[in-house]
Amino acid sequence: MAVVIALFLLSAMVSGTIASDPDMLQDICVADLSAGVKANGYPCKENVTAMDFFSDILAKPGAINNSVGSLVTGANVQKVPGVNTLGVSLSRIDYAPSGLNPPHTHPRASEVVFVLEGELEVGFITTANVLISQTIKQGEIFVFPKALVHFQKNNGNKPASVLAAFNSQLPGTQSIAATLFAATPPVPDNVLTKAFHVGSKEVQKIKSRMAPKK
Ligand SMILES: *[C@@H]1O[C@H](CO)[C@@H](O)[C@H](O)[C@H]1NC(C)=O
Ligand SMILES: *[C@@H]1O[C@H](CO)[C@@H](O)[C@H](O)[C@H]1NC(C)=O
Repeated sequence: MAVVIALFLLSAMVSGTIASDPDMLQDICVADLSAGVKANGYPCKENVTAMDFFSDILAKPGAINNSVGSLVTGANVQKVPGVNTLGVSLSRIDYAPSGLNPPHTHPRASEVVFVLEGELEVGFITTANVLISQTIKQGEIFVFPKALVHFQKNNGNKPASVLAAFNSQLPGTQSIAATLFAATPPVPDNVLTKAFHVGSKEVQKIKSRMAPKK
């Protein structure tokens, strides 16, 4: 019995420590983005200034220049080296009228969005394929649990924007359509035709419309 309890506690502790970015071992560890060595995160820079903890990249709307009509600007460790090892980051997302942030996942983070402007239809899909969705407007928030597929759509005729908070310094994004139809090298057509129950013509049509992701 004691062994069972000990195992249970151990597994609870282990799963607790891997539920988000690992805990830090020191006050600060400003990312040395130019270091050749890659740890789980970035090594710490030698000389630190306030600028390492500062950014104004979320201050202004990003210029939306794609066909989906939305733009994500990430203030993650790659832009704000001071968040290295802290397990937090922010993004700003701007949406043109009718703009969509297409279905995607963040493998390393849960997300909370706060609407800065406008109104959005947002939702996530559980592993049981249940859609949990809601319309949110200025000042309201919505939560997207870690790793679940989610989206935001601006159904209005005015621009919208949100601030998004993550419990990871680098949440990572896999956009479902791009992941499957614009991978390099490409995902074989016969994988996609069988998965989506369509012919190779349909698959090639979608592939031709999606620019390869770098
Ligand atoms: C950090 O600052 C010290 C003292 O000014 C200097 O000697 C050292 O070269 C600096 N290190 C880097 C990596 O710039
Ligand atoms: C869109 O803008 C981004 C940065 O603002 C730029 O890197 C990218 O090349 C632009 N894409 C197109 C298709 O113009």
